[in-house]
Amino acid sequence: MLERKFDQMLRIRTTGLREWKNHSTHFNRYEATPYKALQQLFQVYKLKETDQLVDFGCGRGRVPFYIHHHFQIPVTGIEVNDKTYEEALNNKISYRQQAKHILAPIKLKYGLAEQYEVKKSDNRFYFFNPFSAKIFKKVVSNIMNSLEEHDRSVDIILYYPLKEYKQVLKKHTSFYLMNKVRVPDAKDKKEKFLIYRYKSKD
Ligand SMILES: C[S@@+](CC[C@H](N)C(=O)[O-])C[C@H]1O[C@@H](n2cnc3c(N)ncnc32)[C@H](O)[C@@H]1O
Repeated sequence: MLERKFDQMLRIRTTGLREWKNHSTHFNRYEATPYKALQQLFQVYKLKETDQLVDFGCGRGRVPFYIHHHFQIPVTGIEVNDKTYEEALNNKISYRQQAKHILAPIKLKYGLAEQYEVKKSDNRFYFFNPFSAKIFKKVVSNIMNSLEEHDRSVDIILYYPLKEYKQVLKKHTSFYLMNKVRVPDAKDKKEKFLIYRYKSKD
């Protein structure tokens, strides 16, 4: 009920699943972060007007549109499933009709998250288990390389965090766990967000 209500409010269609057919086990299926979880996250965790968020494996774009609507900041979504990407583009057209006044750009890119060139202005990175830990490690290493070139404070937000993702951050990066946000009344203990922070050297 809540899912459809929020979709209607944003004028997008993001409910449902999409499984991969005959594809590498490295890529996970499409499933959106529940709106209830996003509501809870952003009651506790705020984005500033100078922030720019990237959703790796954005699916139909729920997270970028939701954030753009609430915080009016630049957002980027990367998606490698061509049908899902097409749906995200249609959602953008429809969402934009009621969000013309928000100047911040919404960029949707078709392609592999591990090949995305991290921009020096990107500082918030969102993951809802889009792919294997091996690919996650590569994406995180791209973020770390960008930090070496352009030192800045950066957050990585994990929804429904898997042990393997947490291990990558612990073993291979200097990100530390800054906050944990649980989804109210969740039956599954994994229904939570972990927010990891890298602090600028300044
Ligand atoms: C669990 S969904 C998350 C969707 C969205 N981030 C959200 O939270 O609502 C994961 C998405 O990542 C996409 N994906 C999987 N592997 C990918 C890759 N290597 N590069 C880009 N997208 C990928 C899938 O097609 C799927 O749409």
